[in-house]
Amino acid sequence: MKVMVVGGGGREHALVQALKKSPKITKLYALPGNGGIGRDAECVNIGAKDLDGIVSFAKENSIDFAVVAPDDPLVLGAVDRLEEIGIPCFGPKKDAAIIEGSKVFSKNLMKQYGIPTAFYEVFTEMESALEYLKTAPIPTVIKADGLALGKGVIIAETREDAVDAVRSMMEDKIFGESGSQIVIEEFLTGPEVSVLCFTDGKTLIPMISSMDHKRALDGDEGLNTGGMGTVAPNPYYTPRIADECMETIFMPTIRAMEQENRTFKGCLYFGLMLTEKGPKVIEYNCRFGDPETQVVLPLLKSDLFDIMEHIANGTLDQANVSFSDQSACCVIVASGGYPTSYQSGYEMTLPEPGEDEMIYIAGAKEQNGKLYTAGGRVLGATAIADDLQGAIKKAYALTEKISFTDAHYRKDIGQRALKALQ
Ligand code: AMP
Ligand code: GLY
Repeated sequence: MKVMVVGGGGREHALVQALKKSPKITKLYALPGNGGIGRDAECVNIGAKDLDGIVSFAKENSIDFAVVAPDDPLVLGAVDRLEEIGIPCFGPKKDAAIIEGSKVFSKNLMKQYGIPTAFYEVFTEMESALEYLKTAPIPTVIKADGLALGKGVIIAETREDAVDAVRSMMEDKIFGESGSQIVIEEFLTGPEVSVLCFTDGKTLIPMISSMDHKRALDGDEGLNTGGMGTVAPNPYYTPRIADECMETIFMPTIRAMEQENRTFKGCLYFGLMLTEKGPKVIEYNCRFGDPETQVVLPLLKSDLFDIMEHIANGTLDQANVSFSDQSACCVIVASGGYPTSYQSGYEMTLPEPGEDEMIYIAGAKEQNGKLYTAGGRVLGATAIADDLQGAIKKAYALTEKISFTDAHYRKDIGQRALKALQ
């Protein structure tokens, strides 16, 4: 079968490598992919948001199945457009992708269906948001309604910062139209867990849990990024908590979506916070997480494509989904200066990954057989071992063999998880 993956980051590289193992796939394309993905799939220079381009390519090349990975094309309706021309897809349709595309939608859904989340208010007028902030508990969390490249969340530690955040979103429009509606919500505390789930809208199968490291610098200092590293499984996510999440969060969410006639098919990502009052939803994503995918998929023992086909057919209950009981660690190597300004175009030196090691390329261009940096997050070095400590050690040994000018990575990925185990 001819399969295309829409997207071009480290997550897509992990998806491509996992799909490549399926005996059913004869040809793999990535749109647009990147210089590193080009070693595992044929990259086609069509942007992930270019829905017309994606649909024409699929038609002209008789694509049998499409995997739409990033949030933007999903929220724009890429799956609807591909299914209209008869191409089965992995990923939710537009009306279900709204679970990530609109924070107002997802917060209202959780409230209506009693799914635990932070207390919140929605504002469309700046004056009423500012009025509310006069008495809101501090710290407080301010979220732009729409997609904002993962940057639409501001945690305000003081009332002045909260006022600035609201003004920057609603008056200065720093996130464009995404900030014309905002959510102001209660600040929660506790360990964070990412749980990616396969679902066809009726059956839901959680993948192995993981832990992201969102800040740019060691010790969770510095700016928020797309994610600087991950480990799996997440030690805070005990079997008891997993059962509780299944009962109070995961199943209620897919049932709520079904009830709303927005059946969700694909990967539903639950960003959870384990508070003293139990697990609560921090965010939903309508897709695989990046870089969570880079630790979760290497631990998947079953055929990913087979699972995706079952989801597209609505028969996930018949799929074989099993994970290894090992651990994985992924260290992101970024361009110095990321997430603000950084230089690109540096030649990369990469080792040949050994057994249970993977280098997932996120931002690179290929020229004359060499790879050059081309993005903020450049790559993820992943390793698998029998325990977390071993995986971290191996991932860092791999990372140290990678070099390019101004390379930056955190030295403490997984340390918090290790402490939790002790
Ligand atoms: P998001 O962009 O929704 O993933 O949010 C980014 C990060 O902000 C999350 O990973 C949390 O660490 C933090 N965050 C979001 N909402 C809250 C909240 N209500 N309380 C505390 N932290 C939050
Ligand atoms: N790593 C967080 C995300 O993919 O949104």
